[in-house]
Amino acid sequence: MILVTGGTGLVGSYLLCELARKGNKVKALLRPGKKPYETRKLFNCFSAENEHLIDMVEWVEGDVLDPFSLQQAMQEVDYVYHCAAMISFNPRELKTMLAVNIEGTANVVNACIENGIKKLCHVSSIASLGQAEKGEMIDENAKWKTSRINSGYAISKYGGEREVWRGIEEGLNAVIVNPSVIIGAGCHRKATNRLFHNIENFLPYYISGINGYVDVRDVVNAMILLMESTISGERYVLNSENLSLREFFTKAANILGKPQPRIALNGSILNLVAWLDEMRGRLTKSTPLLTRENVRASLSKSYYSAEKFRSAFHYSFIPMTESLTEALRILERMKK
Ligand SMILES: NC(=O)c1ccc[n+]([C@@H]2O[C@H](COP(=O)([O-])OP(=O)(O)OC[C@H]3O[C@@H](n4cnc5c(N)ncnc54)[C@H](OP(=O)(O)O)[C@@H]3O)[C@@H](O)[C@H]2O)c1
Repeated sequence: MILVTGGTGLVGSYLLCELARKGNKVKALLRPGKKPYETRKLFNCFSAENEHLIDMVEWVEGDVLDPFSLQQAMQEVDYVYHCAAMISFNPRELKTMLAVNIEGTANVVNACIENGIKKLCHVSSIASLGQAEKGEMIDENAKWKTSRINSGYAISKYGGEREVWRGIEEGLNAVIVNPSVIIGAGCHRKATNRLFHNIENFLPYYISGINGYVDVRDVVNAMILLMESTISGERYVLNSENLSLREFFTKAANILGKPQPRIALNGSILNLVAWLDEMRGRLTKSTPLLTRENVRASLSKSYYSAEKFRSAFHYSFIPMTESLTEALRILERMKK
């Protein structure tokens, strides 16, 4: 039996679908009071053959911040995929995010050890690898450096990954994946979907940053390959292409038949807009659309190498044009 945390999220829903398609017995953690309606809809939108697969998933109530619920969820479980996390660049959510991503991961690791779980796959992030020196390629050997420019999200993912390394030292059989920005269609309020929302309401502007991107289907394939292998105590960067934001938005604009971005936005203007939006969020008690952390992350120029995974599994990552086309196709179906 397999347990997936974060099964209602982008990675978790694709993973559940793929594990069920392969005939595995799967349980998914569901937060109290939540219903997996959107995940069901998403499964239907992947393809007609997947429609029945959601019924093969057993939903178990739990929260990563509640160790007792994890103990219960891990009954009769052999393998755990830990995809649950909070992704936020809103300073007001920092405390909760640190708890979910660090303490929550520690709880998952402890429950795995106590329940004799055969193997854990933890979804970390490129954010936990830290910042590169100018122009340097970032890979699994990157060393985290404490710096005031690290985002709260990066700090939380680094802290969460450390809990998994601690578990490995205590004898846990575990692998870690560090995906770059994951492209795929998830339930509407989730992180990558916001990116698509911005693309659809296309503005002719772009920011000068460079980042890595990977298809959600590659992330899921990689996690399953690693879990089915004898590999343990290793981490793998998962990345298809390093693209400037201009290149990324140009690809999306071409697919959507929208005008390409042509006006570069200056960092000081963006920081001012973000500061005003954060103020608006504070006054109206709403989530800001742009924060100074978002701006800092978007302006950074980072290149990632997934050579370790490519060569270990002779793996070819899906090109971004194909990923964006597929994600937008599913999002269109989700709207119906
Ligand atoms: N998206 C990216 O671009 C990206 C890039 C690199 C790494 N990652 C990592 O990949 C993993 C999956 O990300 P994602 O994009 O799938 O995120 P997502 O779509 O935002 O989903 C997050 C999932 O975590 C669950 N969750 C949040 N707090 C929880 C709690 N206290 N207890 C139990 N479950 C909780 C959510 O449940 P609810 O539905 O109940 O909220 C949801 O199922 C995360 O570890 C993330 O850091 C993501």
